[in-house]
Amino acid sequence: MGVPTLRTDRWWRSPLITVLALSAFILYATWAAFIGKNYFYEPYISPFYSPCLTVSCTATGAPSVGIFGSWWPLSPAVLILIFPLGFRLTCYYYRKAYYRAFWRSPAACGVPEPHQKYTGETRFPLILQNIHRYFFFFGLIFNLILTWDAVISFRNHDGRWLHAGLGSVVLLVNATLLWLYSLSCHSCRHLIGGRLRHFSQHPVRYWLWTKLSVLNERHMLFAWLSLGWVAFTDLYVRLVAGGSIVDVRFF
Ligand code: FES
Repeated sequence: MGVPTLRTDRWWRSPLITVLALSAFILYATWAAFIGKNYFYEPYISPFYSPCLTVSCTATGAPSVGIFGSWWPLSPAVLILIFPLGFRLTCYYYRKAYYRAFWRSPAACGVPEPHQKYTGETRFPLILQNIHRYFFFFGLIFNLILTWDAVISFRNHDGRWLHAGLGSVVLLVNATLLWLYSLSCHSCRHLIGGRLRHFSQHPVRYWLWTKLSVLNERHMLFAWLSLGWVAFTDLYVRLVAGGSIVDVRFF
């Protein structure tokens, strides 16, 4: 790739894959968020549009909180995506990934970076990355909402339990992966086990911390799986709602 380094292995493969995968997700998510249709097919709702905060959602049959009236000019997804997006953007793992892949800062170990100065995250604007711990709490709220969406996707069109289609499974896997991603978060681990002098005096927190630490080791895996699956969930609901495919009914 024209970068002076003594490394002879294919060190550029990982940042290249990161650029391609993140770019693909950003392009798809932007398109899906702004298109503003085919996001609901009873009982499935796209995770990009839940909770639906505009009254326009009711036109599609989607449950609406209706905080924003018909004067809201954009898609309802635009109102909520800032929170999951902020959570991902400030995530410690994604920071490492996109600093390396997009800013080549550095692209890999032993590969010189093109920048002259290093200021790290000690000053504006990157110091704002510290806001991650707050986005973590917003992320939990969205996890609860999307878990509820998954639960009610097992309800029939007439409101009776128990319906199960492929869409219910897709939504359930989505909620599970999002929980795994959040619970493996470094801020979550610190919240549970940080700022303690003696673990021996906090046996419950210590126990929880050991469990979260196991998840934390797989944070990168959960980051990618949950990212890919949330886009797939939107796509699945979109294709069913648009009539391109038929939802598979198990019972
Ligand atoms: Fe990745 Fe918190 S560190 S979500």
